[in-house]
Amino acid sequence: MKKDFVELSRRWFDNQAKDYDKTNTILYSKYGKISCKYIYDYLKNKEYESLLDIGCGTGYLIDMLSKEHEAEYIGLDLSSEMVNYANSKNINNAKFLEGRSDMLPFEDDTFDIVTCSQSFHHYPETDKPLQEAFRVLKKGGLYIISDTGTGPFGFIGAKLDGFLYRCFATTGDCNISYLKMMEKDMKRNGFKIVHGEKITTFIYAVVGEK
Ligand SMILES: C[S@@+](CC[C@H](N)C(=O)[O-])C[C@H]1O[C@@H](n2cnc3c(N)ncnc32)[C@H](O)[C@@H]1O
Repeated sequence: MKKDFVELSRRWFDNQAKDYDKTNTILYSKYGKISCKYIYDYLKNKEYESLLDIGCGTGYLIDMLSKEHEAEYIGLDLSSEMVNYANSKNINNAKFLEGRSDMLPFEDDTFDIVTCSQSFHHYPETDKPLQEAFRVLKKGGLYIISDTGTGPFGFIGAKLDGFLYRCFATTGDCNISYLKMMEKDMKRNGFKIVHGEKITTFIYAVVGEK
C-alpha cells in the first residue's frame, strides 16, 4: 500500500505538540530553532505588513517576530495539536489555522512575506507547495525557506535519503533537498532567487522574490 506522508506527518506532530518547544533535540525543535532564528535575523530590517508562516508548528517564529515588528501574522499547520498549542500562546496580532501547504486557504497576492521553517521535507510533492506560496505572495514579496538538506552529499544524498525515509520513516519525512536543488525548484516555479546559503553543514536557507 502507498504511504500517506501527509497523514504520517499529521500524526507525528500531533503527538509532539506539547513537548516540541521545550525538547531541544533533532527529533523535536533543535533544527527548527536554528532555522527560525535565521529567518528572524533575515527579516530584522525588512518592511512588511503581513506574514504567513507555513508549517508554523507551535508558532515559535511568529512569537519572536511579533515582539519586534508590528504586522498581521498568520501561521498555518497540518497538525491541529500544533495549531492549538500556538493559539494557546495568545500572541498579539497572530492567528493560527489548520491547513496544508499544497492548498492554501488564501486569496492570490495576499502576503508581503511567506516563511517556511523545517517543514518542506514533509511535503510529498515539491511544485504545488511552491506554486501556492508564490500565488499568495504579493508582487515583490519574499518567500523565505530554511530546511534540513543533504549538505555536502548533494544530489546522491537526496536520492538515498529520500528512498530510505520513504521506505522506513514513520515521521512523514519524505522530500529531502539541498541548497542548489531548492534554488532550482523555486526558479522553476516563478521565483527570482535573491539569496541562498548554508547556515550549518546540513541546514540551508533560500530567499525567493515574486
Ligand atoms: C519540524 S516542524 C517545524 C515547526 C516550525 N516551523 C519550526 O521551525 O519550529 C514541521 C511542521 O510542519 C508541519 N507540516 C508538515 N507537513 C505539512 C503540510 N503538508 N502542510 C502544512 N504543515 C505541514 C508539521 O505539522 C509541523 O508542525
